[in-house]
Amino acid sequence: MFKRLPGDTSGLVTTTPETSVVFAPTVIRTPAIVTLVIWAFRLVAGVVRLVIRHPIAVAVTGGTAALWVRFDWQEAAMVTGVMLAEVGLLWVVAPRLWARWIGWRLVAWARMTFVYGPRWQSTMAIAGLTASIKGRVFVPRLVRVRCSGWADVLTVRMLRGQAPGAWAERTPNLLSGLGGVSCRVAVLKGARLRVTIVRRDELAVPLAALPVPEVATVGPVEIGRQENGEPYRLKVHGTHVLVAGATGAGKGSYIWSVIRGLLPAMAAGLVEVWALDPKRMELSFGRRLFGKRYAATPEECTELLERAVRVMQERADRYAGRRRSHVPTPDDPFVLVIVDEVAFLTAYQEDRGLRHRILAALATLTTQGRAVGVGVLAALQDPRKEVLTIRNLFPDKIALRLDEAEQVDMVLGDGARDRGALADEISQTQVEGAGVGYVRLEGSPDPVRVRAAYVSDDDIRNMERGYGVDGGTW
Ligand SMILES: Nc1ncnc2c1ncn2[C@@H]1O[C@H](COP(=O)(O)OP(=O)(O)OP(=O)(O)O)[C@@H](O)[C@H]1O
Ligand SMILES: [Mg+2]
Repeated sequence: MFKRLPGDTSGLVTTTPETSVVFAPTVIRTPAIVTLVIWAFRLVAGVVRLVIRHPIAVAVTGGTAALWVRFDWQEAAMVTGVMLAEVGLLWVVAPRLWARWIGWRLVAWARMTFVYGPRWQSTMAIAGLTASIKGRVFVPRLVRVRCSGWADVLTVRMLRGQAPGAWAERTPNLLSGLGGVSCRVAVLKGARLRVTIVRRDELAVPLAALPVPEVATVGPVEIGRQENGEPYRLKVHGTHVLVAGATGAGKGSYIWSVIRGLLPAMAAGLVEVWALDPKRMELSFGRRLFGKRYAATPEECTELLERAVRVMQERADRYAGRRRSHVPTPDDPFVLVIVDEVAFLTAYQEDRGLRHRILAALATLTTQGRAVGVGVLAALQDPRKEVLTIRNLFPDKIALRLDEAEQVDMVLGDGARDRGALADEISQTQVEGAGVGYVRLEGSPDPVRVRAAYVSDDDIRNMERGYGVDGGTW
């Protein structure tokens, strides 16, 4: 507060009590014209921003108003009515297109105006994401809201000097302030963040095993669902896949969903699944599906892997100079080598000779098998380099529930956790979390949350009954 000093008659004031230094703030009267110019500038800037952000709404409203002024209200009402009818027709004819271009944009506008806008400043302040410097309050800017059936995606500009980690730590605050069932923060370019507020978790309950496909195909196998409700298809032919997750994370459901999706192709002779089950707890259950191509002891596993290497080398000799990619046929089927808990064969294998042979075979398969139709799908509990030195030879990786935050980047690559792959935060309860994981889909650096369908023991028994080697269709 300004304070009048004793004996001071000339209107001098000080802002700091008890000081001998006296100063008077200079008060300049702003001429009215300056104020008017500032207001006019703000008005123009606001209109320009409105036109840029909501071009369609401005065009419709502006067009109607112009018609009204130029002609009369009947014309304006008619033209606007026709336009609205066309929009309505689009809704009937192409509802998805309508939703994408109009529906969800209107929802986003409404949420920005009535939900996020009003709650933003107080939520930021209570979450401790604002800053106050010399009495001026800085609030991160909410740039854009996009909505879809399952989540709202907010683009936010952080304050200068703020770290994305500060936001990631405060996701519970954001959730309680803005609503939603879960929230995650991913770093975009510059000082921008993407805050995804999930409103309806499509993956909250386990998915039952998907129906066995009717056509025999090795193409991407549908094995579950993505966070946005769309099917999740895993490519196995033409790549190698590593599924990493702590014990009980649901690695088995990935393995079995892949096998289930490939059953018709196996029956048609286009795919051979070679099963390595060193723990004897997973693939042994459906043994009859694999016939002789099943191994459990380290010796058998080594033999089977080396056999796969020989198949691969024989094909490479045949293909050399003739073709560069593999097309599965009954003569040259796609060989998918599935290894449950690969560390049992590598890091935890006591026999050094066997360990060396297994690692050499796995490394050969993962470096040279892709183009000749030999793929590896391996499950792993502990993704550290010491445990699986060749983990980078797998082009595609899936991170299920992991014990530590650092393990996420080990599996999905640097920066994956910052981009929102919170695999260490997946629920430990089986109903909510088993089978849930993060993957990087082709063509996007952003990890996507997925859940594999759960193939129960009964499902596996039925699979064996229909497709098992003895008594089955092949
Ligand atoms: N996709 C899923 N949906 C729902 N529940 C699942 C799913 N996958 C697995 N589960 C449940 O979680 C349990 C453990 O799964 P699973 O055996 O596949 O784990 P794991 O990752 O292979 O563990 P470990 O490394 O110990 O073998 C299963 O018995 C099942 O009850
Ligand atoms: Mg397992």
